[in-house]
Amino acid sequence: MSDFGDPCTRQVMGVIVKHFHAAIKEIEPTYAEWHAAIEFLTDVGHMYNDRRQEFILLSDVLDASMLAEVINDRPHSTGRQPPTFNTVLGPFYLPGAPHYPNNSNICLDEKDEPLLVSGYVKDTEGRPIVGATLDIWQTNEDGFYDLQQRGIQSDLVLRGVFVSEADGHYAFRTSKPRHYPIPSDGPVGKLLGRIGRHPHWAAHIHFIVTVLGYELVTTHIFAPDCPYLREDTVLGVRPALIATIDRLSDADMAKCRGLKAPFLHINWDFILQSTTSVGE
Ligand SMILES: [Fe+2]
Repeated sequence: MSDFGDPCTRQVMGVIVKHFHAAIKEIEPTYAEWHAAIEFLTDVGHMYNDRRQEFILLSDVLDASMLAEVINDRPHSTGRQPPTFNTVLGPFYLPGAPHYPNNSNICLDEKDEPLLVSGYVKDTEGRPIVGATLDIWQTNEDGFYDLQQRGIQSDLVLRGVFVSEADGHYAFRTSKPRHYPIPSDGPVGKLLGRIGRHPHWAAHIHFIVTVLGYELVTTHIFAPDCPYLREDTVLGVRPALIATIDRLSDADMAKCRGLKAPFLHINWDFILQSTTSVGE
């Protein structure tokens, strides 16, 4: 590195070159292997369109995405409860999901077993937060997003935006998500196959929770009985994000929520950190 130019870029490139050279020295690639590596990265770069960004996928399966999340996660305040963890956004988020009143059903085709998800949005002192927006998306019970099954699933099924009430409460009806494979028809999928790794992302529901005055949270909660919890391919599972799913037979509660008993239930609170408390 020269003594000129942008100091930050020089520092970053210095670290990258140091570790990159160490890897090459340890691997001692042949010319053919070096060319194969160049071709792999070229193929990753070519797999890019408005629905696919293979470099993000590569970052995810190499655990770089979650590592960056952990490093950049908000500093915890001194409040009574730690804020909800951030995780990766994933490839299937769509902005502009329909807005619904609380207790609405986002499983528009209603073909799967009903699941009620409810809880509160609170600050780190346990005080309710009114007006928080919860943007939610998930797979159906077969492990597919609406984007992947156009003509089979309704458009915007299993997506919705909800707003927390005066006491911080939110609730929506849905179906149980299922694990699903990350796109495996590209160079990253082939790489996983060559190193003997499966492509499955543990079953989850995605959330973006945001409200003025608080740090935005992008997260997901995981189904506790998913067989891929311990070997999630994007390494996104944190113990604190694994939900409990209860089967409830409370007929009055079911009727109140527009369900038939018994039904599945996840009780889940989101804890947001005030923007003014960051760095305390
Ligand atoms: Fe997902």
